[in-house]
Amino acid sequence: QLATVSKEGHAKVRTVVFRGWSDLDLSSSEAFKFITDLRSEKMSHGNIVEVCWYLTETREQFRIAGNLMYITKDAKEEKFVNERISTWKTVSEASQRSYFSPAPGQIVDQTPLVEPAAGALGNQSFPPDSFVVGLVDPFKIDYLHLRSPQVRKIWTKKEQGEWEGQNVNP
Ligand SMILES: Cc1cc2nc3c(=O)[nH]c(=O)nc-3n(C[C@H](O)[C@H](O)[C@H](O)COP(=O)(O)O)c2cc1C
Repeated sequence: QLATVSKEGHAKVRTVVFRGWSDLDLSSSEAFKFITDLRSEKMSHGNIVEVCWYLTETREQFRIAGNLMYITKDAKEEKFVNERISTWKTVSEASQRSYFSPAPGQIVDQTPLVEPAAGALGNQSFPPDSFVVGLVDPFKIDYLHLRSPQVRKIWTKKEQGEWEGQNVNP
């Protein structure tokens, strides 16, 4: 789950698919990668976000607070341009299709939504303008392990980029 804060100061949370850790040198840490649509509401939200992850098998929760940056069609730096293109190539055709569909959140009128035909997808090796890669560069990790006794540890990134961890009460 990715939580953001809207311009009105409202908390907004939604599910996104984790697309791996990116080591694009945003800082000393690897960044949580996801993909999204340029036309989606979250794009107008603040850049301090939190990712919450619960791993059911190991019974561990990770709350990762971080700075969010988006790699959009306007990215100039080569490493970001390449990241956007290479990530697009890993996206399934079904998911790629949504980036050619009407904007997320747009009101659906009486006409049923028509999915674009496969041929309308254009050049599948190059992302459409609507395709955005999101990177959350963590600065705080709140870890909880539901075992007996429970363990909770908070890591904070210091100015020099090193991480400092402290055990706290669950
Ligand atoms: C299982 C699941 C996976 C999803 N994965 C993504 C994703 O990777 N990226 C994304 O933008 N939205 C994803 N969504 C849709 C979002 O939860 C959300 O509805 C959409 O991004 C619009 O959010 P927004 O209006 O806050 O921008 C997913 C939804 C579900 C249920």
